[in-house]
Amino acid sequence: MTPKRIRAGLKTRIIGRAIECHSTVPSTNDLAWAAALHGAPEGAAFFADEQTRGRGRFGRTWHSPPGGLWLSVVLRPKVPLDRLLLVTAVGALAVADAVEELGAHHPLIRFPNDVVVDDRKISGTLVEARLVGPAPDLAVMGIGLNVNLDRADFPKDLRPLSTSLKIETGRALDLHDAARAVLAALDGWYRRLADVDRIRADFKRRSSILRRRVRVITGADTVEGLATDVDAVDGITLRLDSGHPRALRAEHISEVRLA
Ligand code: BTN
Repeated sequence: MTPKRIRAGLKTRIIGRAIECHSTVPSTNDLAWAAALHGAPEGAAFFADEQTRGRGRFGRTWHSPPGGLWLSVVLRPKVPLDRLLLVTAVGALAVADAVEELGAHHPLIRFPNDVVVDDRKISGTLVEARLVGPAPDLAVMGIGLNVNLDRADFPKDLRPLSTSLKIETGRALDLHDAARAVLAALDGWYRRLADVDRIRADFKRRSSILRRRVRVITGADTVEGLATDVDAVDGITLRLDSGHPRALRAEHISEVRLA
């Protein structure tokens, strides 16, 4: 990939102000952090063809072979700490919009930040933030989007649970087009970060788990029930089999599966 080809026709105000493309790196999140700490502008985006140590939430490995879109963006969000989850939400909303624009049908968000098509994961985002004083001053949003991956490109255990744009649309895409769609969608959503009502409403509308029976894996235990509410900031509410409600916040949720 080249910055020049990503920039061709890109109309964003913040996201993609600076663009770097690399071949093989450990993790684009590390590149973005190093640049951010050296004063990279908000919106600077770092792409790699391949990652050798791609990481996901809860310390999981993110499989990142050539053919996918692996990028990280430097952000300086103006949100209080208790609203930081809005940054994760706008990331997932942006990727879902981009995935739809790129031709996959009906992408939804599996709380808190997976984008799924027919309940198979097509993308994940990882937001890492630094706190100085009471509010975050710097964040890196890493986005992994399975673009041209075939079934055989996924580790065996992930095959039934994963998909890609190529699998969904039946054709390979130019990674530059995919990059542009993601940057443009993220620019739109990121500029709406203060519009909490809109983010909450769209996040709920895009939910893949609302009104479905799910199994939620937290750091401490596994909880099963009907998802009666999904909120970008407050988390999810389950109705347990006992009839009691149970609220779970995103930061405690390692994984949500359909039960
Ligand atoms: C998840 O679903 O757990 C989040 C996955 C995030 C993966 C992306 S790929 C680009 C960026 N660099 C990383 O090391 N991780 C993120």
